[in-house]
Amino acid sequence: MANFLLSPLYLALLLLLLLLLLFAPARGEFPPTCERIECPSYGVVDAGNGFEIRRYNSTSWMSTEAIEDVSFVAATRAGFLQLFDYIQGKNAYNETIEMTAPVITQVSPSDGPFCASSFIVSFYVPKKNQPDPPPAAGLHVQKCGPRLVAVRQFGGFVADESLGEEAAALNASLAGSKWASAADKARRADPATAYIVAQYNSPFEFSGRVNEIWMLLDDEEASVSM
Ligand SMILES: *[C@@H]1O[C@H](CO)[C@@H](O)[C@H](O)[C@H]1NC(C)=O
Ligand SMILES: *[C@@H]1O[C@H](CO)[C@@H](O)[C@H](O)[C@H]1NC(C)=O
Ligand SMILES: *[C@@H]1O[C@H](CO)[C@@H](O)[C@H](O)[C@H]1NC(C)=O
Repeated sequence: MANFLLSPLYLALLLLLLLLLLFAPARGEFPPTCERIECPSYGVVDAGNGFEIRRYNSTSWMSTEAIEDVSFVAATRAGFLQLFDYIQGKNAYNETIEMTAPVITQVSPSDGPFCASSFIVSFYVPKKNQPDPPPAAGLHVQKCGPRLVAVRQFGGFVADESLGEEAAALNASLAGSKWASAADKARRADPATAYIVAQYNSPFEFSGRVNEIWMLLDDEEASVSM
């Protein structure tokens, strides 16, 4: 037995178990982060194979300018640091703001594989600050009305290499569903935004991470499916 505990096989199994625990994808769950900090509220309208349809109430976001980069991860980090300064008090009112989740990144891919894509990183403004979010240089407020969103959850740290696959998987699962035409119509209305990535954990949390790909649905088209 002692021999087995030290054997490479046992250690490999232990490592595998650890990795599974750390990176186990959370699917279809209410993000646990939202039990600790404020998140925008939503209702679940439908759930299918590989996706969930949510209706968000009106939301306010504090957003960066478009950040040009080849890397989603690098652009999101740069945007996150700017927003982190903002909530720490680097704003016109010198006001500290409660952390919320998720931080979202709108992704506008480039035409070629070697060109920079464009990313806008946004912080969900807490209800308390929504009537008058402190202005700040380089940031602007985006107010969104109620919105229908198709969502796919995945775990671990978001990697540049796997992001396209996650988005394609959501796309594919929608394509065969009754929400396909609503997704198409929203895409035609805003062809620049391919998808949005929502991240619920700080870079310092290693386990139980929850991320989501969001694709917007056209409300009018969707109402035919409801
Ligand atoms: C959305 O807002 C309305 C009115 O403000 C409220 O009644 C409703 O409960 C909210 N929905 C969710 C899912 O929070
Ligand atoms: C914010 O802090 C700066 C530097 O400490 C100060 O000059 C400025 O007057 C403050 N603004 C407000 C609105 O308190
Ligand atoms: C989703 O599929 C449509 C075609 O159905 C395509 O035009 C679009 O680029 C795809 N988006 C992503 C993010 O894969």
